[in-house]
Amino acid sequence: MEKPVRLQKFLAHAGVASRRKCEKIIEERRVQVDGKTVSAMGVKVTPGKERVTVDGKEIGGAEEHVYILLNKPKGYVTTVADPQGRPIVTSFLQNVKERVFPVGRLDLDTEGALLLTNDGELTQAILHPSNEVYKTYEALVKGHPKSTDLRSLEMGVMVEEQKTAPAKVLLVKKTQQNAIVQITIHEGRKRQVKKMFQAIGHPVLSLKRLAYGNLGLGNLRLGKYRFLTKNDINLIFSNKILYKQKDS
Ligand code: URA
Repeated sequence: MEKPVRLQKFLAHAGVASRRKCEKIIEERRVQVDGKTVSAMGVKVTPGKERVTVDGKEIGGAEEHVYILLNKPKGYVTTVADPQGRPIVTSFLQNVKERVFPVGRLDLDTEGALLLTNDGELTQAILHPSNEVYKTYEALVKGHPKSTDLRSLEMGVMVEEQKTAPAKVLLVKKTQQNAIVQITIHEGRKRQVKKMFQAIGHPVLSLKRLAYGNLGLGNLRLGKYRFLTKNDINLIFSNKILYKQKDS
């Protein structure tokens, strides 16, 4: 028999959300243990013993793991419930009975690749900084960044008093006023890509995530999703940079 763990830790391990967010979910009275609503923090559960639900759906039971890649459109919040009532990313999922959660976040106005799963361990593995999982973005930025600007992005720029880790950057195309730049990073600070381009004086006008590691969107259309195979999952960790087109 497994050891009892705090409810918020149990929920976080099951992939519901970060531990802090899980505490909030408990406070919001959305969690039940064996049919009783729990809103206090000290409660412990033993994995496999009690029946734990969030918003009425069972967590951490014998449920099979599912892995989904969604091409998120702009205007959707990366959450499974929004107190402000804005459109949520899970509204695209038809016939998915498992309770899946987004792996990381995309801003409301960012589109592109978003993984959803009920596999808490995989979520932690992707999000844990030590695993350095690459994410590739395509940014439409204001103006024409010089090659020295792009080089600074690659070397690291100051974002909130902390230098960003080395990145891969590729100028894809210049339009009359703006430029399209691909950037691959492995950190996951909030609004990181936007802040990085802000730091070089070329604010992001539009942002799209193209890939997690080597798992790209392919021809998945906006608002569509597909179930992932083990092979797809392996691509996330294969740590080669998908969209790099030239040697630097
Ligand atoms: N970086 C950002 O600035 N926004 C996102 O949505 C993702 C990465």
